[in-house]
Amino acid sequence: MKEVTVRAPATVSNVVCGFDCLGFAIDGPFDEVTARRSDRSGVSITHEDGFGLPTDPEKNVAGVAVAALLAEAQADFGIEIIIEKAIKPGSGIGSSGASSCGAVVAANWLLEEQFPPEKLIEFAMEGERLASGSRHADNVAPCILGGFVLVRSIDPVDVVRLDFPPLFATVIHPQIEVRTAEARAVLPELVPLASAVRNWSNLGAFIAGLEHGDYDLIGRSLVDEIVEPARRGLIPHFEEAKAAGISAGAIGGGISGSGPSMFMLSKTRERAEIVRAAIGEAYETTGIAFNTYVSEIVGHGASLR
Ligand code: HSE
Repeated sequence: MKEVTVRAPATVSNVVCGFDCLGFAIDGPFDEVTARRSDRSGVSITHEDGFGLPTDPEKNVAGVAVAALLAEAQADFGIEIIIEKAIKPGSGIGSSGASSCGAVVAANWLLEEQFPPEKLIEFAMEGERLASGSRHADNVAPCILGGFVLVRSIDPVDVVRLDFPPLFATVIHPQIEVRTAEARAVLPELVPLASAVRNWSNLGAFIAGLEHGDYDLIGRSLVDEIVEPARRGLIPHFEEAKAAGISAGAIGGGISGSGPSMFMLSKTRERAEIVRAAIGEAYETTGIAFNTYVSEIVGHGASLR
C-alpha cells in the first residue's frame, strides 16, 4: 500500500466526572488524513485546510506522532501526511487528537498494521504533549478505538473499552478558542480529599450506568466538583447553556474536553435534536457565533475512508 486516507472522529473527553481518563467518539465532525509512502526519509506535512497550522513536522502534532511511529518501526522510508481538518483547533472536541490519530492510523496501514492500538495511542499522545504540554489519552484512545474508553494508565498504556447503551451527544461549539494549555493552567494542583472521593464515586457509578443501561444513574453521575468549577469561567454563558440542555430533557452534560465546546447526552436522537434547539436558542442571545452537532456515540474510531 502506497497511500491511504483515514477519517478520524471528533471526541468528547473528561465526560464531566472522568478528567483525563474518560472519553467517547462521535460520528462527526471528522478530519481526513492521508499518508503517502515517500522515498525521502522522515515526515512531511501538508495542510489542505484554512487553519494555518504549522507544517514543520516537529511543530505539528501529526508530525511528531508519525515520527515516533517511524522511529519505533525503524522504517526505511518516509511518510508524507496530508491533513484536511474539519475539527477546528482549540475547540475542545479533540482536534489535535484527531490529527495525530488519523496520521498514525494511516501510517500504520502503510506499515501493514504492524502496531496494535495501544502503541498507536502511545504515538498519538506525543501530539497531545506538543499541543498542550501534557500527555493524556482521553481524546486519542476513543479516537482510535471508538465508543467510550476509560484510560486506566498511560505508562504503560492500559485502556478499557466500555459497554454502553444507545446514547446521543449534542455538542455546542462557541466560536472562540480555549487553548488546552491555558485551561490546564487554571486547575488546582491539590484537591480536597472529600471532592476527590465524590469524583471517583461518580466515575465508578457512571461506568456502571453505561454497563447496565441505567440512564438515571448515568445522569446522576455527571457531576464534577474539581475541574468544572475551575474552568467554567473560561466558557462564556456556560451555566445558561447547561441549564437549557437539562431543561430540554438531556440526561446530563458539561464541558467537552478543555472547552469551549459543551456537550449533553440524550437517550434518543429526537431528544438530542430538542436539546440542540434549546441550547441554540439560549446561546443565540449571547451574540457569540457557535456551531452545533448531534451525533450518535459510535463504536468505531479512526478508520479507512
Ligand atoms: N483531558 C484533557 C483536559 C483534554 O481536559 O485538559 C483536553 O485535551
